[in-house]
Amino acid sequence: MGSIGTPPSAENGSANPNPATAACDQSIDGYRASSNERALESDVSKKRKSSILPLEVGTRVMCRWRDSKYHPVKVIERRRTHCGGPNDYEYYVHYTEFNRRLDEWVKLDQLDLDSVEAVVDEKVEDKVTSLKMTRHQKRKIDETHVEGHEELDAASLREHEEFTKVKNIATIELGRYEIETWYFSPFPPEYNDSLKLYFCEFCLNFMKRKEQLQRHMRKCDLKHPPGDEIYRSGTLSMFEVDGKKNKVYGQNLCYLAKLFLDHKTLYYDVDLFLFYILCECDDRGCHMVGYFSKEKHSEESYNLACILTLPPYQRKGYGKFLIAFSYELSKKEGKVGTPERPLSDLGLLSYRGYWTRVLLDILKKHKGNISIKELSDMTAIKADDILTTLQSLELIQYRKGQHVICADPKVLDRHLKAAGRGGLDVDVSKLIWTPYKDQG
Ligand code: ACO
Ligand code: ZN
Repeated sequence: MGSIGTPPSAENGSANPNPATAACDQSIDGYRASSNERALESDVSKKRKSSILPLEVGTRVMCRWRDSKYHPVKVIERRRTHCGGPNDYEYYVHYTEFNRRLDEWVKLDQLDLDSVEAVVDEKVEDKVTSLKMTRHQKRKIDETHVEGHEELDAASLREHEEFTKVKNIATIELGRYEIETWYFSPFPPEYNDSLKLYFCEFCLNFMKRKEQLQRHMRKCDLKHPPGDEIYRSGTLSMFEVDGKKNKVYGQNLCYLAKLFLDHKTLYYDVDLFLFYILCECDDRGCHMVGYFSKEKHSEESYNLACILTLPPYQRKGYGKFLIAFSYELSKKEGKVGTPERPLSDLGLLSYRGYWTRVLLDILKKHKGNISIKELSDMTAIKADDILTTLQSLELIQYRKGQHVICADPKVLDRHLKAAGRGGLDVDVSKLIWTPYKDQG
């Protein structure tokens, strides 16, 4: 996967020659002919426009993006502009080549109406999507607490998709950052009319107005997440928050995190989870950088449910730190672990990078043969993840009914270089922690 968040360039912006700028015939007759043609074409264009406007939801069309190039989009929703006429709409579009976090409201003049394709039958499409869901995904959606439903049927699923298709909150203020959101998050109905929310960076309570937040900050006595500080190294701290003991905090964190997580469901039942909050500390307090959640008991040996680095802190190595931390906890528990699926595009990139670096570092240093089981025991990485990582790097061969790791030092070096930076290190000597089952 190449660059995320920055779509590759597309060559389709000028695929639509404008008749007005077409080469002009020098002869008078010729000029007249092309002028008539132009009039005719603009007539046709006007008629076509009036027949297709306002665009229907489901329409596929090319749209000018912030890179000034045209990209294919699907219209997800439309709304009237405040002062516009009957045909003046804005459109919420999904760039079909890119992740949903780039979905946005666009103006009509960003759309190339000559590229409009036939309207897609939404119902048919939604059915196909719902059929593609695995049982696990259905279970997860069920857990988003459509209460009273054992399993989501196609209609409820459509309703869920319908409900989450347009981003509700556009920006949040958190600490010293104003952050653009990526996805829909199911805030309580009284927040439906807010485009921006103000979060207390310590207790994560959220408010509709800045003055409310200011008032709250004068009263709020937290200067760090609730719970126990289980790691401190330099200015970095990790807090463990028990969802049962700090229910409101856990729920607020889920609302916040969902703004940046597409396929993860929100657990109101935060009792079942522990939250590990990574903070950067200074004399004003401990400021949340990111977090991961972990089920207190996981039958599937998940050691991490959701992971997030807040956008202002991304690409600085915190994600790999959080991943490494989750495996350090697994080591202390004497278990192997794996992240809950599905992984997002960025989640997969981060995990692949982490697994590659950890495994190849060991292979480089290790003399003699080593098995996947031994690698798993040393790293707490589940054997399946080791196998798929080494297979994707073509370091595994299947000989005489066995997987054999082939570790040519030059090949290892090449892969290590490609795996990017190592991220911030976890200093295990600074981790003071007892696994949940032993916490009494
Ligand atoms: N473009 C390309 N590569 C990227 C990008 C990006 N925007 N972001 C991360 N990566 C890749 C890179 O390989 C990067 O390593 P590098 O910087 O050395 O090249 C690696 O992922 C991890 O980089 P970090 O700086 O350690 O990670 P970061 O702090 O940015 O956090 C995370 C990664 C947590 C996935 C973050 O992108 C995030 O919060 N995304 C939104 C939420 C999300 O998708 N979470 C995962 C869901 S899956 C799950 O929860 C089980
Ligand atoms: Zn507060």
